[in-house]
Amino acid sequence: MEKRFSLFFMVTLFLLQFIQLCGAAVDYIRPSARQLSFRAHNGSDSEPQQVHISLAGKDYMRVSWITTDKQVKSIVEYGKSPGIYESSATGESTSYKYFFYSSDEIHHVKIGPLDPSTTYYYRCGGAGSEFSFLTPPSTFPIEFAIVGDLGQTEWTKSTLDHVGAMDYDVFLLPGDLSYADTQQPLWDSFGRLVEPYASTRPWMVTEGNHEIEAFPIINYPRRFKAYNARWLMPYQESGSKSNLYYSFDVAGTHVIMLGSYTDFDSESDQYMWLQADLANVDRQKTPWVVVLLHAPWYNSNQAHKGEGESMRQAMEEVLYKARVDVVFAGHVHAYERFTRVFDNNADPCGPVYITIGDGGNREGLAMKFVNPSPSISVHREPSFGHGRLRMHNNTHAQWSWHRNNETDAVTADELWLESLSSSTLCNQVEMPSKSLKDEL
Ligand SMILES: [Fe+2]
Repeated sequence: MEKRFSLFFMVTLFLLQFIQLCGAAVDYIRPSARQLSFRAHNGSDSEPQQVHISLAGKDYMRVSWITTDKQVKSIVEYGKSPGIYESSATGESTSYKYFFYSSDEIHHVKIGPLDPSTTYYYRCGGAGSEFSFLTPPSTFPIEFAIVGDLGQTEWTKSTLDHVGAMDYDVFLLPGDLSYADTQQPLWDSFGRLVEPYASTRPWMVTEGNHEIEAFPIINYPRRFKAYNARWLMPYQESGSKSNLYYSFDVAGTHVIMLGSYTDFDSESDQYMWLQADLANVDRQKTPWVVVLLHAPWYNSNQAHKGEGESMRQAMEEVLYKARVDVVFAGHVHAYERFTRVFDNNADPCGPVYITIGDGGNREGLAMKFVNPSPSISVHREPSFGHGRLRMHNNTHAQWSWHRNNETDAVTADELWLESLSSSTLCNQVEMPSKSLKDEL
């Protein structure tokens, strides 16, 4: 009986991964896969590992880490000088089971209030190594590093090396983190790989298809089990009912993380939440509004063609009316930048759409683009790399995409953006119904 179940489990696993890895595009052939680079834990059972931090409401940071020893307390001690911890906070821990896998203890502790632009030194669980992080600034300028579809290959390592070579304030990841794809120890390996970066700057992520880890054939009841337990984001702090979509403010920028793999139709909780969230944005306080999601709404690559279309049809007008400045996506393993767009046409009051799914996943690059290139697609290239968005002030920001070369990150695309909140044209026109867009 047990043998038959194991066989069933393995066949199901294979089928699920096959479906996930193929995606919906039938005319795209992926390059050969690259080896995963597994990272083991060499410390004691009580030593904190996989430490990462995330913004958790105004002036607060959430510190997350894992211990094999379930007796370790969920406590973080912290202060502004190395080894001197004037403050401490206690949080909670959780764990989860995934078939025969039982996770170690996952701790989440909120600390603060913290000062902006300040280095804090901290220790998790009352013992172990000291870490440090820099809090984001309270005002401009602020710089985001943005990478999608990260994975854990040597390509990933190259991307992270390049990201870490230049300073930044907040890391944004529009989905597909570990590529564990139901093999739970790979979540732990991923946590160890990113710890040097994710323990020093806040990592804000949203989910991709590789986070789902569902078993539709036997109706495994919970999707996103590992993702939600390990990568807790400030959804409660932003009035969301789900860890799969949330928002936060940082230094004049309102960042919205949407979920491509949860309901998004006009009756859905996500849609209602998005409308309420955008209605509450004060463009005097946060002149910039940036959205991240996984499956791109605009994409001229043959890979994953049309997969974001139903979400675009449901939500595009909401973002357009709110004058969202930029929408980042992942999923397609290449770089592509579109001009300002609304409803498939160039529109000076629409967001700039950028696909940045080129972090270093194990599936390789999406090499084939549709030809001829659509007129709204400005720059497209299948290379691994990362992006940087630097908000200089209320009105101007600089976007750059850096291709991974052997030793250096090379700036391969660059753009200056003017915020739509400062645009006389876009603020004067009372928008937005699709029938009025041609009058812009
Ligand atoms: Fe994906």
